[in-house]
Amino acid sequence: MERKLPSKFGTYFEPFLGGGAVMFHMLSKNPNLKCHVSDLNSDLILAYIAIRDKVDELIESLENHSKKYQKNSNHYFYDIRESEPTSQIEKVSRFIFLNKTCFNGLYRVNSKGKFNVPLGRYTNPNIVNKENLLAVSKILQSADIEFFCRDFEAILHDSKKGDFIYFDPPYQPVSKTANFTSYTHRDFTENDLERLADVANQLDSKGCYVMLSNSNSKTVKKSFSSGWEIKEIIANRAINSNSQKRTGHKEIIIKNY
Ligand SMILES: C[S@@+](CC[C@H](N)C(=O)[O-])C[C@H]1O[C@@H](n2cnc3c(N)ncnc32)[C@H](O)[C@@H]1O
Repeated sequence: MERKLPSKFGTYFEPFLGGGAVMFHMLSKNPNLKCHVSDLNSDLILAYIAIRDKVDELIESLENHSKKYQKNSNHYFYDIRESEPTSQIEKVSRFIFLNKTCFNGLYRVNSKGKFNVPLGRYTNPNIVNKENLLAVSKILQSADIEFFCRDFEAILHDSKKGDFIYFDPPYQPVSKTANFTSYTHRDFTENDLERLADVANQLDSKGCYVMLSNSNSKTVKKSFSSGWEIKEIIANRAINSNSQKRTGHKEIIIKNY
């Protein structure tokens, strides 16, 4: 990853934030980096904000989930999956609890936006990773990060020449069975991919550094066929129902620098 980043740039933008692996990597190298990050998943953005501002309350609520889960995991998991809490802390602890106990830590919702992943097979899931939550909270408090819940296209208004934008969108399927694009209630369609290519081209014209990752799909390569450098890489995927298929996938990195 390090070799693929531009050597010097202004603000860092990550408009498909997810777990923020690249943002945390960048902050570990440069804690003063100015970050402008967003995602369409409102529960996810709420989780970052709660971890930053109310980590002790969040840990307490997760400890409560953990105790009840240990008494009757099956019953408690589906009870919480059905629940619709309204307070920020309860919403976020439900989100983290489901992530830690559902099948493979997958996040998927149905057409109504309801989380629908079944219970995972864990003997002792780490529902309250206190050390990690406290460490992440500290990083989020000290860093210069602005969080937004919004569609990726909105970054066109905030970015300027010399900024670096990294796009890690839901990947395009490469086969009929590899169609996992439902992170939010809206699927990431070919139309979204076309919008993304258009946004990337506008950022390029503005003088931004742009990098994207995606599956090794013909549709993606076609969308970025003119003026973009496309490199194939071998990546390890954590999510696949068949554990033997979790390694050695070909992905692509697309750059304009
Ligand atoms: C492949 S994941 C990102 C993975 C992330 N880089 C990581 O390290 O975990 C894609 C993310 O895009 C978000 N997303 C889907 N459609 C979006 C849209 N139209 N605008 C912004 N974010 C979107 C999903 O909620 C999900 O968090």
